[in-house]
This record gives sequence, structure tokens and C-alpha cells, in this order.
Amino acid sequence: MNPLRIPVSARRLGLLTLLCLLWGTLRAEEIQSPNKQLTLSVTLAEGGVPTYSLTYKGRPVIKPSKLGLELKNVPSLLTGFTQASAERRSFDETWTPVWGESKTIRNHYNELAVTLTQPATKRTMRLRFRVFDDGLGFRYEFPRQPELGYFTVKEERTQFALAGDHKAFWLPGDYDTQEYSTVTSKLSEVRGLMKSAVTGNASQTTFSPTGVQTPLMLKSQDGLYINIHEAALIDYSCMHLELDDKNMVLESHLTPDAVGDKGLLQTPANSPWRTVIVSDKAGDILLSKLVLNLNEPTKFKDVSWIKPVKYVGVWWEMITGKSTWSYTNMDNIKLDSVDYLKVKPNGTHGANNAHVKEYIDFAAKHGFDAVLVEGWNTGWEDWFGKHKDYVFDFVTPYPDFDVQELNRYAQSKGVKIIMHHETSGSVRNYERHLDTAFQFMNKYGYNAVKTGYVGDIVPLGHHHYDQWMIDHYNYVLEKAAEHKIMVNGHEAVRPTGLSRTFPNLIGNEAARGTEYEAFGGSNADHTTILPFTRLIGGPMDYTPGIFQTRISTFNPGNTSFVHSTLARQLALYVTMYSPLQMAADLPEHYNQHLDAFQFIKDVAVDWDDTKVLEAEPGDYITYARKAKGKSSWFIGSTCDENGRTSRIDLSFLEPGKKYTATIYADAPTAHYEKNPQAYQIRKQTVTSKTKLTQLCAPGGGYAISLVAVN
Ligand code: NOJ
Ligand code: CA
Repeated sequence: MNPLRIPVSARRLGLLTLLCLLWGTLRAEEIQSPNKQLTLSVTLAEGGVPTYSLTYKGRPVIKPSKLGLELKNVPSLLTGFTQASAERRSFDETWTPVWGESKTIRNHYNELAVTLTQPATKRTMRLRFRVFDDGLGFRYEFPRQPELGYFTVKEERTQFALAGDHKAFWLPGDYDTQEYSTVTSKLSEVRGLMKSAVTGNASQTTFSPTGVQTPLMLKSQDGLYINIHEAALIDYSCMHLELDDKNMVLESHLTPDAVGDKGLLQTPANSPWRTVIVSDKAGDILLSKLVLNLNEPTKFKDVSWIKPVKYVGVWWEMITGKSTWSYTNMDNIKLDSVDYLKVKPNGTHGANNAHVKEYIDFAAKHGFDAVLVEGWNTGWEDWFGKHKDYVFDFVTPYPDFDVQELNRYAQSKGVKIIMHHETSGSVRNYERHLDTAFQFMNKYGYNAVKTGYVGDIVPLGHHHYDQWMIDHYNYVLEKAAEHKIMVNGHEAVRPTGLSRTFPNLIGNEAARGTEYEAFGGSNADHTTILPFTRLIGGPMDYTPGIFQTRISTFNPGNTSFVHSTLARQLALYVTMYSPLQMAADLPEHYNQHLDAFQFIKDVAVDWDDTKVLEAEPGDYITYARKAKGKSSWFIGSTCDENGRTSRIDLSFLEPGKKYTATIYADAPTAHYEKNPQAYQIRKQTVTSKTKLTQLCAPGGGYAISLVAVN
């Protein structure tokens, strides 16, 4: 800028701005989304503080918010920056996921990379921003440099200054679990509700009265839907958010390790991407591919071994207390002192040869790909031995589980057995056995493993979401890929779109799944929220399909019930996206309702296309999805405890084509608590011009299969 011209514009800019310009501390850089509806602005505020803001259709989404990190034992990366350069580029590619909600995914953004230097310390940090039509992603990059080699993060201080006291769908900030009921409240009410939100839940290591987890779903009073999360969580600790509830500013809060540090980095290094998805339509949040797009393409050369899976399992019977994982009634015994051939079996061990064969037969008869078998291996009696760093060795079956014969039998029926590795949180023990465990799987023909991390992490002091554990989960994925094994991680960190890079990560739990319906229950609106929160990062192994929702009918001691109608249990195969779907109920319950079971048999687990027909977080969601490589479509609709009338039109169908719609719906008298099993099935011919009106019971929903008529 020509300094001689400054006085002319000084009146408009104001004195302060002018001074800042003269000092070179305030230089606004702007970029827009490809469709120009989002505008990102980045400046160095007074004192050389990196600051960004975001608008959507001219409305503020993120007000000016600070960026930076506090480091341990060395000066922070928060202030005193000057701008060295700003580079811009545009990117547009369309890629094909190995599995997914659509056949192809467009990755289209404008990028701004601002390189900052901190003259006082001679250090450099780059901020990279990508603005998509559906939101913003940005990260910190630490180039290799003489004055910044190894460093320890004390705290990341990324702010998200919100434009108001939004409605929030939140989970208490916890370093070890996401298995909470979601609380719906205004942000200003978080503090008052925190205590009751934590009570009765799995873990209580919440870090503050206003700390919450991501993905955090927000809705502004003027109808903007905003989702804050992270993408590509690799070699870094998981981010939570601390709310300043006076100013409505969220700030990053990283999960500490055993000594309270929040990340050990060595340049060159990057933080994960921080993501803000925004739209004035709720359905756009559900359709966003931003988190996936911010992950790196896979480097796997051969992906032919990765396949979506529909499965049943020896599982719900243990979860509900009808049978047991363990083979004996001994409690906390020392494992290597047990001769299983000499002890008396407890008579309730689920994973026994005869019973597993029944499941294999059921799976084969109804066209399922696999049977999960939990409780097959020794160690369940020695849970506390994990503190001594042993327990499970992942290769020793109980005496009534013949690993060779059962895998042979399954194979002869065209079915796979899914391996189960419950680690009891003893991670060092698991890593020590990992290679042998995966070789064992290869030997007997297993191609998928469900991992589990129940309880405190050993080594003690570590948290499920700290950097050391993030590295562990990713190490397991890499090791599994070497053995061509697919992974479904339970109690692991919530996903951040990593399945683009590691497509063998076909499932995760990391939220309150169906199991909680057997531990006291979940709210009836739970499944109208999860797609807006947890599923933003990736698919969930929610384990739907419970037809006998009253558990006391088969285990009198358990008074829990599933907070859903039977018809809605069918809808979940469409609304809870996952390439790994379980029919979780007991075979005898499916045999009582084979007409409804037909939907679970028919529904696809991999898709060419996905539409959101109706959506409002906490109230209802209706999806339509087209089966991969087929002309058939499936619709699923879930609603909250109030029930509603759903009105959809089928204009997504191929024009001129006729389809047979089979509609699995709540009966007029259905109710998730009082009358959950009341359903009706009807058939009707439909076209792309058809409009449907469908009643959803309280805690209910419906499912439709649409098959083209030749
Ligand atoms: C918790 C998991 O979520 C559940 O699916 C599993 O059966 C148990 N842990 C035992 O590993
Ligand atoms: Ca769990």
C-alpha cells in the first residue's frame, strides 16, 4: 500500500485500524466457499493474535475467534505473530469410497494457507483453512524448523465464538466415554444441567461444569444448524470443548495423558482439522461429507477384502443377562491357575459349540454374512488381573468352543464368524498379543474383529481419548490391514472420518448404543439426535433390530425395555448409517415375526445414493437410500416420544418406473412403552409422483422397501 494514500481512507477505517495497518498487525485475508455462501476471514488482531471468523449467507456463524496453542516449558504459540505469506488455491475432485452412503463423493473447496512467524522466538506456524459449500475445516501446521523440533502441548486454544445462546445437543466432557444420553438445552443451561447429565452414566471423569464433547450439534434461534467436530485425528489427543457461558465462546480442551500433558509433537506435524458444518437446512448437516473429505485418500492398494457386513451374534443374550461371557462362576481368579478341563462349567456360557452352530444355521438360512461370537476365549473371570497386565491372550478358547470346527462349519454354510477382542482396557497386554492374535484369525478364517476397551486404561492414568490411545487405535487399524482384517472398535475414540484413509475401519461404537436399552434404557428421541452428533464422524455399530423390547419376557430379573417400537427398529437400518449392521435380537424373537424380519433380510448395507426427506434434530429424521448397484430404495423414519405424521414425496425415484413399496409401520395404537410390538405391513404400487402420509407412534417410526417392477 502506498503510505501517501492512507490519510484519504483514514476517516472510513478509523484510527485504530489505521494504526494496526501501519504496524502491520491487522491484515484481513478472505476466502469464500465455491458457491460463495460462506465467507472466512482471517486476521492478526492486536498483539499479533491469529483470529478467524465465518459467515453463512451474510449471517455470523463464528464471530472473531482466537487461534493458537500453549506449549509446555517454552513460549506459547498464541501471540506476537506477523504474517509471512498467504497462499490460495481451489480444489475439486470426485472420489469413490470403498463403501459409503453414496457411490461417489465430491471434495470441492477453496483453500487459504496463512504462514505466520513469531519474530521473538524465530518460530513459524501455518494455518490452513478449507472452505466448502457445507462448512469450514482448518488446522495448525508446524513445519520442520530449527527453533521448533520436539514440543509438548499444554493446551490448544482454538476458539469458536458463537453468535448467540444456541440450542445445543451435548454430552458431558469426559476423557473416557461417550456412552451418555444426549442433553438438549440452551448453551446457557449447560452448567445447571451438568450434574444430572453425568449422574448414572458410565464414567464420571468430566473435566468441568461447562465442558462438552464433539460432534456438538447447535441450532441458532434464527434457524442456522451448526456442527462442530474434528477430522483426521491422528497422533494427537481428542478435542473436547470448554464453554465460556457468559460470552458463548467454545474453546478447545484436549484430553490429557497420564501426566497431564496434551500432546507430544515433533515437527513437521499437523493438528487434526477443526470442523464447522453449517446450513439453514438440517438435512444438509446429515448429508455433509466435509469430515471425510478432510481425511487423506487411502493408501491401501488392494481393498477387495473390505466388504460391508450384515450379521447376527451371540451377544444380546449376554447383554440382557440371559447367558454369560464366562464359562465358570469363579470371580477374579488368577487365570494361569485355572485348569478349565477340571472346573465345573457354570451352565450359562453362551459361546458353546451347539449354540454357536444354531446361530450359524440361522445366519445361513436368512442370508446373513456373519455371526459375532463373544465370550469364546478365556479370561472373563479374571477381569481385575488386567491391572497386573495379563488376562486375555486372544488365542485360547474355552473348552466348549471348538475354534477349528466352528469356523469349518461356518465356512461350509457360507458364513463368517466375527472375532471378539475384549481388551478390558489393558492396552499394553493387547499390543503384546496383537500379532499372534491376528495370525490366529488368519489361520482359522476370521476376517473381522470387534475390539473393546471396557474400564480404565492400563497403563493406569491414560485415558481412552489421549494421544497415546489415539496412536493405539490407529496402530491396530494398520496392523489389522496387514492381515486383511476389518475392525469394529467399541469404547474407542469417536470417529473423525478416518475410514477414508483406513477403509477397514468399518464400525465404531463411541456412543450410547442399543446395549443401554438393557441397562435402564435410552431416551425415545435418542435416534433422532445421533445422526446429527456421533455419526458426523463415521458409522456406528448401533446394533438395532430388537423385536422383543420387553427384556423381562426372557430374563425376568431385567426390567429394562427398549425405548422404541418394533417398526422403528427396522427404520434404524436406514437412519443409522453403517456398512456393518447387526440384527441384534435373539433368533427365537425373529422367528415370531418373520414378516417384519423380512425387512432386515432385504435392507442393503451399502449405498449408491442418499436423500434426507425430513429432519429436525431431537424430533425426527427420514432418510431414503438407494442400494448399491441395484434399482431398489429403502426408507427409514424415526421420531421422538411425541409421535407425528410424516409426509414424504418419492420424487427421487426414477421417473416413469413403477415400484412395489412394502411399508412396515406402527399400528395406530402403537407406543414405545405401552404397545411397542403393534405394527402393520402393507404393499402399494408407487412412482416418482407418489406422496405418502404415514403415522409414527410415540417413540416410533417406519421402514419402506421399494423394489422396481419389471
Ligand atoms: C461393551 C460393548 O459395547 C459390548 O458390545 C460388548 O458386548 C461388551 N463390552 C463386552 O465386551
Ligand atoms: Ca460399550
